[in-house]
Amino acid sequence: MQQERLLKVLVIGDLGVGKTSIIKRYVHQIFSQHYRATIGVDFALKVLNWDHRTVIRLQLWDIAGQERYGNMTRVYYREAVGALVVFDMTRASTFQAVLKWKKDLDSKVALGSGRPLPAVLLANKCDQQRYGLCSKMPKLDNFSRDHNFVGWYETSAKDNTNIDAAIMCLVQNIMAID
Ligand code: GTP
Ligand code: MG
Repeated sequence: MQQERLLKVLVIGDLGVGKTSIIKRYVHQIFSQHYRATIGVDFALKVLNWDHRTVIRLQLWDIAGQERYGNMTRVYYREAVGALVVFDMTRASTFQAVLKWKKDLDSKVALGSGRPLPAVLLANKCDQQRYGLCSKMPKLDNFSRDHNFVGWYETSAKDNTNIDAAIMCLVQNIMAID
């Protein structure tokens, strides 16, 4: 018997960190330098043949960075089972915002058991080696553990670095829950 699982995954993080680009890369294998801010929320779907009896419908909720200042996130987060929290390696302020997003998430949604949603941290734009934090990026193993992320990755939507790996890590953690 085939079973189908619908997984709602949130993609959050500050303005311009690359959330939409990561999703476009993952779902459509495209990248554009052109920036158009997401308004509210956008959606994308990726179907994964997980194992011989499980098909996953991965519903990606692409939440606009500017929504951190609004009061809609509680509505968007409802029934989510995991999250990608993204920052831009070239802009330190977006790294500082990571914990604000994580706190917003954990205060508004949890698993049925009351446990926090599995979340993976993405240090995006790792192709920009010469700028900002990139050259002196510390390893985030301790940070990630201390703040309850199930893992972290340096990613590039532009070069297609670690996007699949980061999302696979999240899905594996979600699927391990039950
Ligand atoms: P909001 O919708 O405003 O919250 O932004 P966002 O997080 O969706 O960012 P978006 O994906 O629109 O990307 C913002 C800008 O960064 C765009 O110009 C992208 O081309 C660029 N960008 C995204 N990912 C990467 C990356 O991995 N490397 C480089 N060099 N640029 C990137
Ligand atoms: Mg966007």
